[in-house]
Amino acid sequence: MQKLQDLAAHVATEFEKVYGRPPRWIAAAPGRVNIIGEHTDYNDGFVLPMAIEFYSMMAADRPVDGREVITLRSTLETEVATIDLSRPVVPTTPKWGNYPRGVVAGFQAWGIQPGGLDVLLHSTVPLGSGLSSSAALEVCTATLLEAVTGTTLDPVEKALLCQKAEHDYAGVPCGIMDQFISALGREDHLLLLDCRTRKTEIVPMQDPSVALLIINTNVKHELSGGEYAERRTQCEEAARNLGVASLRDVTAGLLEAGKSKMSETAYRRARHVIGEIARTVQAAQGVRHSDWPTVGRLMAASHAALRDDYEVSCPELDAVVEIAEAIGEKGGVYGCRMTGGGFGGCCVALVKASSLDAITKKIATDYKARTGIAATIFSSRPAAGATILKR
Ligand code: GLA
Repeated sequence: MQKLQDLAAHVATEFEKVYGRPPRWIAAAPGRVNIIGEHTDYNDGFVLPMAIEFYSMMAADRPVDGREVITLRSTLETEVATIDLSRPVVPTTPKWGNYPRGVVAGFQAWGIQPGGLDVLLHSTVPLGSGLSSSAALEVCTATLLEAVTGTTLDPVEKALLCQKAEHDYAGVPCGIMDQFISALGREDHLLLLDCRTRKTEIVPMQDPSVALLIINTNVKHELSGGEYAERRTQCEEAARNLGVASLRDVTAGLLEAGKSKMSETAYRRARHVIGEIARTVQAAQGVRHSDWPTVGRLMAASHAALRDDYEVSCPELDAVVEIAEAIGEKGGVYGCRMTGGGFGGCCVALVKASSLDAITKKIATDYKARTGIAATIFSSRPAAGATILKR
């Protein structure tokens, strides 16, 4: 895993190769893994993510010709994205440019003019893997623009600006978790976020006896596929039929009493959400007390509900969870679940640090045997949120 400073040096070199001079600013923002609290953010619930040591990073300078144009080049994309600041900033092609475009538009809406820029983007967050590469890109852009314009946004406002960019420019009606953790992550801490009040609490995760393993199924997920928006609508339907503003206001008892007022599907979606909100609060408590067996059990229950009630898992994610569960606590696995939006992407497993290598090998072998796909497996400590590396 590349250290942030090494990565910054790499990006600076790449910038110089492309633009022929060193960058004036460098900013970075991390991807995330969610420990628990899945599909709860847009239901005003709790989430418990952490930032990971994978980053979206941008190096930039003013254009030599002084034009009011932002030119975005990426080490991962061949197409160049440009933003002509003399015109209204609207979504266009290439698609990847729409995340920064939305953020630029957000700054403009706040009356902050970024001015022309030459930008080089590099990202180590695996794309389409449910590790929030898009939120990292948005928050990275916002952090770069803070450096460039000499403004410091309130981190909550910054996260909301980035979420709006994703809604309006990428067409994904995401919740607030990903942008919040990318902006507000703390080294060695999880972030317990109350998505209703937007109050955050950092929860220390420093016990050296445990580690978090991220298992990428290498099955790509695509959130704009409509399934995500459909889940949101079903939750809204359930809340409406129960006469409440959001599922946060519903207890298990209330849901049972109101079961006949909604479709069977909406009922199951709500059952997941209500259970998951409770599990997230309990898991945060478990982390505070280093009660890893309890946290692991809650993660397992979360996966089962996402698979059966919320129906956002897929055979490959289920395969990883089954393999991890077969290893069990005796073999060093406390719990394992899918993480992020679902339909592919990653699982997260809470494991004994002493068994990390053995577990990694076992999951890799068994997953390959079952699916024919090679998984990518790595562990990450909780990383810090967005940062300006050169100003
Ligand atoms: C995606 C969204 C988040 C959240 C998760 C599911 O990552 O961007 O806002 O809803 O799915 O928990």
